[in-house]
Amino acid sequence: MRYRLLSALAAASAAIVADASPAASATYDYIVVGSGPGGGPLAADLARAGYSTLLIEAGTDQGDNPTYADIANFNEAANDETTRWDFWVRHSDDAARDLKFKHTTWDTGDGTFYVGLDPPPGAKLLGIQYPRAATLGGCAMHNAGVCSLPAADDWDTIANRTGDPSWAADNMRKYWKRIEKNEYLPAGDASHGYDGWLATSVADMSWAKNDSLPETRILKKLAELTGQNPDDVASLVNRDILAAGKDVDETTSFYSMVTHADNQGKRSSPNNYIRATLADPAKYPLTVKLNTLVTRVVFDEATVNKTGTTPRAIGVEVMEGGSLYRADPKHVANATGPVSQILARREVIVSGGTFNSPQILKLSGIGPAEELAQFNISVVADLPGVGENLGDNYEGSILAIGAAPVNSGLITLLFRTPSAPTKKRNIFTWCGAFSFEGFWPGFPTDYGPNEYTCAMVHMAPKSQAGSVRLASADPQDRPAINFRFFERHGDEDLRELVEGANLLRASFAAAGAPAVPLVEQHPCANGTDCTDAAQAEFFKLQAYSHHATSTCAIGGDGDRMAVLDSKFRVRGVRGLRVVDASAWPVVPGAFPSCPTMMLSAKAADDIIADAKQEQAA
Ligand SMILES: Cc1cc2nc3c(=O)[nH]c(=O)nc-3n(C[C@H](O)[C@H](O)[C@H](O)COP(=O)(O)OP(=O)(O)OC[C@H]3O[C@@H](n4cnc5c(N)ncnc54)[C@H](O)[C@@H]3O)c2cc1C
Ligand SMILES: *[C@@H]1O[C@H](CO)[C@@H](O)[C@H](O)[C@H]1NC(C)=O
Ligand SMILES: *[C@@H]1O[C@H](CO)[C@@H](O)[C@H](O)[C@H]1NC(C)=O
Ligand SMILES: *[C@@H]1O[C@H](CO)[C@@H](O)[C@H](O)[C@H]1NC(C)=O
Ligand SMILES: *[C@@H]1O[C@H](CO)[C@@H](O)[C@H](O)[C@H]1NC(C)=O
Ligand SMILES: *[C@@H]1O[C@H](CO)[C@@H](O)[C@H](O)[C@H]1NC(C)=O
Ligand SMILES: *[C@@H]1O[C@H](CO)[C@@H](O)[C@H](O)[C@H]1NC(C)=O
Repeated sequence: MRYRLLSALAAASAAIVADASPAASATYDYIVVGSGPGGGPLAADLARAGYSTLLIEAGTDQGDNPTYADIANFNEAANDETTRWDFWVRHSDDAARDLKFKHTTWDTGDGTFYVGLDPPPGAKLLGIQYPRAATLGGCAMHNAGVCSLPAADDWDTIANRTGDPSWAADNMRKYWKRIEKNEYLPAGDASHGYDGWLATSVADMSWAKNDSLPETRILKKLAELTGQNPDDVASLVNRDILAAGKDVDETTSFYSMVTHADNQGKRSSPNNYIRATLADPAKYPLTVKLNTLVTRVVFDEATVNKTGTTPRAIGVEVMEGGSLYRADPKHVANATGPVSQILARREVIVSGGTFNSPQILKLSGIGPAEELAQFNISVVADLPGVGENLGDNYEGSILAIGAAPVNSGLITLLFRTPSAPTKKRNIFTWCGAFSFEGFWPGFPTDYGPNEYTCAMVHMAPKSQAGSVRLASADPQDRPAINFRFFERHGDEDLRELVEGANLLRASFAAAGAPAVPLVEQHPCANGTDCTDAAQAEFFKLQAYSHHATSTCAIGGDGDRMAVLDSKFRVRGVRGLRVVDASAWPVVPGAFPSCPTMMLSAKAADDIIADAKQEQAA
């Protein structure tokens, strides 16, 4: 397969946010770096609390662009060069194993990508594509908007590791209620919020009442296979996936899929909240600076390497201009921009996401001392955990081509496979007439109207052996990213994926005429070689992921690998926090976007509480 590498510069953004250029002398209470689910809502909350806040974002504002604003266009959005940052990652330390990933991507040198196992002579290996969105709202602007919340244990783990009870699951629900603007349940449901900024809605599930549809027959078969009543499917599919409750994490059930979009299909994300904050007649002190790459955090020199003082962050160094980062396909070789410093009176908050936050910390002298020494970066704080502990949900799919279409009703099912280590469910799956096999330039493949997929997200991956390490000391370069899939407890996670595939596959034949036969393409190509071992090998080589977390993990005081304390403060320095998906010590359930917006709301509370305490003192 060949894909176009790059067209001309994308059309200028239709930003309503002014590309404000603060005077060199401007100082803010807070500087927030990155406007995704971590940083975006936090900057808005700090400004709404009356603190002057500068939000710096490398990308542009695409809030009015239908590619982003209409949630149905998510695949187009993730491919769009207007915002795309291409990271080329590895899945393991074994180069030969990685080369078996079917969508390995190469640069042919003639302006095209080659994707596949048989590159043309002279093509340069790029790796496995991992797209990110550099734009106001971050990856919440190109994601599919699927919204689910962590298991109670995922929160309680943070409370236990840090001894900070404010992280307990029971206390965290209030943040969900604060941010949510529920559009799918009548007001008053105790699990939900109705006055927040994040709209949530559900897909229409009325098709499930129609017994003569092939997908309803698949649904009923899945009910039978998972101990649910096949006669109840029309109501089971409307269960609320976000409901709080005692046994929800142990419940195998169908649900209606919730997305962070409104009833009209308009994407809801930090972009909306930031723009609403800027437009508010209350004139909150929020400044948004787009097209600006933060190159490092600046410390007060008088506090670095002085006995008796802790290094204090006082601002950031920035390079101004669009497409300065080399992950941006629009980047022009050797392009740079003017470099300057912007100061923060109170704090700097880094929210560049799981790849960029550890890179920014390391470029600022915070990270493993040995790695920093390799790049001649002066150590401000030796924190060996920065960039380590990278985790992600494993994903894999069962793809089949039917004899006729299976229509498009979407089935969402959360279930527990027999060898799951706890009583909790471990697979989040959605089945429908689509294909999803991971990421590469131009994804996904269109197998025609008869394609049918069950996509699986493994909810509690056990490895977290990945890393984000510097490739150079140049802030315009991408870091080196290796997920080290299945490195720890890999056989167990692979077995769980195979068990999931076996269960889902067993429902396909129920589709009935004219959809059958549903000829499987993978993991069991055309029904052959369907041993558990062969399937495990398939998932080992072909699993993909797009929910990276945990590279600046929160942890306890005695934990050498902890990067943050329970209040998001970077250990070993003052005036600096990290608030984004990199802060999760463990992968937060099946989908990180809504959980990271909750984490952001908690960070706002913690930061404002500290400020008030300081002001009172
Ligand atoms: C294709 C795709 C689909 C996804 N689908 C889903 C889904 O359906 N549901 C779900 O829950 N999750 C999904 N995710 C994951 C989810 O979107 C992310 O986990 C989430 O956005 C992470 O938020 P964040 O704030 O940590 O980082 P990000 O969203 O990555 O935001 C970081 C921001 O910081 C900016 N930035 C970075 N470095 C710098 C710098 N040096 N200077 C200035 N700005 C900088 C970036 O431009 C970006 O805007 C998906 C992700 C991808 C890639
Ligand atoms: C947290 O600690 C409590 C009390 O020791 C324990 O009962 C619980 O199982 C722990 N939860 C997790 C997720 O570690
Ligand atoms: C059920 O689906 C069939 C097949 O598409 C269709 O002909 C029929 O009208 C549907 N019934 C209802 C009640 O919608
Ligand atoms: C970029 O810089 C390198 C090294 O200085 C130089 O060799 C190369 O020609 C430059 N490329 C462009 C497009 O200016
Ligand atoms: C680090 O500094 C040393 C001594 O100045 C130099 O020899 C080396 O090339 C530098 N390394 C890098 C990665 O810049
Ligand atoms: C601080 O001291 C350490 C150890 O001597 C050194 O490696 C580091 O470069 C110094 N950092 C700065 C910013 O001077
Ligand atoms: C499946 O395999 C059989 C036997 O090898 C072959 O005849 C058939 O064409 C294959 N079907 C598809 C759809 O690939």
